[in-house]
Amino acid sequence: MKKYLVIGNPIDHSLSPKLQNWWLKENNINAKYDKIKLENHEIKNFIQDIKKQKIAGCNVTVPFKKTIISFLDKLSPEAEQTQSVNTITFDHGDLVGHNTDIAGFDTAIKKLNFNVEGKKVLILGAGGVVPSIIFALKNMNVQELIISNRTREKAENLRVLFDNLKILDWGDLTDFHMVINATSLGLNNETIDLDFSSLGQDKLFYDVIYNPHETHFLKMGKQLGHKIENGKTMFIYQALEAFKLWHNIVPKVNTDTFKLLDND
Ligand code: ATR
Repeated sequence: MKKYLVIGNPIDHSLSPKLQNWWLKENNINAKYDKIKLENHEIKNFIQDIKKQKIAGCNVTVPFKKTIISFLDKLSPEAEQTQSVNTITFDHGDLVGHNTDIAGFDTAIKKLNFNVEGKKVLILGAGGVVPSIIFALKNMNVQELIISNRTREKAENLRVLFDNLKILDWGDLTDFHMVINATSLGLNNETIDLDFSSLGQDKLFYDVIYNPHETHFLKMGKQLGHKIENGKTMFIYQALEAFKLWHNIVPKVNTDTFKLLDND
């Protein structure tokens, strides 16, 4: 039986095994997908295990999306530019790093019927997922990308990967068409201390978090009459892209898929 894994730290709350095993069963594939918590020093041995074919494929989550790169043989162009890998395939003896977060975010936005072309987007946060979001938004031809992060230096570091990024001090606000919460604020009911009440109408409030399904940030956007969306569709489609890479099959996404991931 083929073995697939997601590695990260923490990893307890990952819903990837639930979704990938559901799709494996649905497609009659004789394989199993597990999660494993790794420490930094364990990555090298783990990679050797993939090469010995004990593991057929792997997802990578926080905090290893960047550090894993030095152990891989090749990167997809998307993984190269974002310096972020969330999926590993084993191709003709080479470990290849891919980034399917980009396609996940891209699909999620396209399904929303909110055209971001020529629009101004404010991103809150500069953590692991932000380079993928920037990559996808640039491909959608947004007009302006503004990053605001508590640690300003981390926002500035993104300028090494991408040009034309504006940086805004944490706590300040500017006008936008779409605002994205890419911080971890909201995972445990935290609020974001920004006053969005004097903005115009018809904005999109997007949260990468999907559990809880409505963070304070999204509740606030909804209360002010804006469109809101959580990160569940992005999560499902990044997983779908990984499944396609490993099994060459496009798994089904329907209301049952969304229900499967409801645990709040
Ligand atoms: P990592 O930073 O290791 O990539 P992440 O979960 O991808 O982890 O990112 C966490 C994001 O939430 C970061 O942008 C972080 O800001 P810092 O770079 O300043 O750490 C942000 N974040 C976490 N707690 C926060 C808080 N209490 N206030 C504001 N931002 C916070």
